[in-house]
Amino acid sequence: MGLTSTHVTSISLDSEASADLDVDAIVIGVTPGDTADAARPGAHPAADALDAALGGRLAAGLTALGATGKAGELTRLPTLGAVPARLVVAAGLGADPDAEALRRAAGAAVRSLAGVRRVLVALPASGAAETEAVASGALLGAYAFTTFRTGETKDPVAEIVVAGDTGHAASVERARILARSVALVRDLVNTPPSHLSPDDFAAKAREIAAETGLAVEILDERELAEGGFGGITGVGQGSANPPRLVRLAYTAPGATRTLALVGKGITFDSGGLSLKPAEGMDWMKSDMGGAGAVLGALAAIAALKPAVNVVGYMAMAENMPSGTAQRPSDVLTIYGGTTVEVLNTDAEGRLVLADALVRAAEDDPDLIVDVATLTGAQLVALGTRTTGVMANDDAVREGVVAAATRAGEAAWGMPLPAELRKGLDSPVADLANISGERWGGMLVAGVFLKEFVPDGVRWAHLDIAGPSFHRGEPYGYTPKGGTGAATRTLVQIAEDVAAGIL
Ligand code: BES
Ligand code: ZN
Ligand code: ZN
Repeated sequence: MGLTSTHVTSISLDSEASADLDVDAIVIGVTPGDTADAARPGAHPAADALDAALGGRLAAGLTALGATGKAGELTRLPTLGAVPARLVVAAGLGADPDAEALRRAAGAAVRSLAGVRRVLVALPASGAAETEAVASGALLGAYAFTTFRTGETKDPVAEIVVAGDTGHAASVERARILARSVALVRDLVNTPPSHLSPDDFAAKAREIAAETGLAVEILDERELAEGGFGGITGVGQGSANPPRLVRLAYTAPGATRTLALVGKGITFDSGGLSLKPAEGMDWMKSDMGGAGAVLGALAAIAALKPAVNVVGYMAMAENMPSGTAQRPSDVLTIYGGTTVEVLNTDAEGRLVLADALVRAAEDDPDLIVDVATLTGAQLVALGTRTTGVMANDDAVREGVVAAATRAGEAAWGMPLPAELRKGLDSPVADLANISGERWGGMLVAGVFLKEFVPDGVRWAHLDIAGPSFHRGEPYGYTPKGGTGAATRTLVQIAEDVAAGIL
């Protein structure tokens, strides 16, 4: 199955496509009109043609149905035979929609059409970036995870036709590549730990490497222990499903710069002997979202071929309590020799990442970016949707936040205050894995990781604890469950490093 997700939605771009096209539904935009009850169809030739076919009554019809044009709103309108499509979905764009507003509108509209086969998307996009946003929103909205359902399910839309300038074909192709990677990451996050062990993840990475031409190297539990990867070994030792360290590499011909990506891959985080409460523990199937994003990004990078070498490390383990599990007070030796006193086995992400960061630095990268569902404190600080970005260099932090923003993912820069380091002092080892300081838990975790990045190596850390998994009702192009967070950002970072702006 490889890179192919549960459902595959095809996409095409057609400058001739209009309201007379043989489709099941047409998606148009609506913006607020001059008065509160005068919604206006988003400007698009196909929307104009639809209006003509409806006798010029499209705006009046939408207004009668209560459409106001505000972002997030969906209004359904039957065509009653006026055009081949039976249904029009008018997606609210808000006033002055930007690319993200278009992406969300396309996503919400296409998701609402699950069960329908072929859809024409005629949203008002001008230029390459907006066309890409419409295409990517539509594809990201056409996602459903149905692997474990045996009853009737409504399949997502199978075929999307974007009505737009065929001069933007490359943008639509980029959207397709990114959406395919995001779907892969969503699938991995949604797959329950009963069906996704560290070795299952590694096997998937191997399969994708074979499909895309990436180089792959996988260390098993014996190689990890013998190689001195004490963090991954310690976290994984309580589980019947042994740990893995996956390394993927993309080589760009002639490239002189190297980007290293590092992902936290805990296929299930029970907390270990520092057991989590039962309430919400199921959420922890998503604790490999960082590793998923690294795998998804590398798959996209292999297809988009930016002019930069990219290596990806995925530190995979299952954090379980058992007779062989690590104990609070155990000391382990991270790859490279630093010792860590494990005072709380639930602060396991930083232990597996420490090994992987030290290993990644051996590749002599110009930039290391790690991604992890690392702390509950990230949710306290930034909420469920905004990624926390920390770095050992102000320009790197700002560049990463800018890359995320351009990729359409919410991210915010956070500090790594030097005074937090002493809270990690341990009476027996080089440092402890939790702090005596109660506040700023997201930053403390960042300060811990910073210890494992060699001086002079530029590094950024993305805490995606909230953004990785969506527990509420779907919105825009974001479904319930795995979101694929950070995947598009990592690809953008690779492109920015290739372009020399990061
Ligand atoms: N995987 C969790 C962090 C997490 C929490 C992710 C909620 C997604 C949603 C991580 O391993 C963890 O348990 N962190 C602890 C650290 C603490 C013991 C210092 C936390 O945040 O409570
Ligand atoms: Zn944990
Ligand atoms: Zn965790």
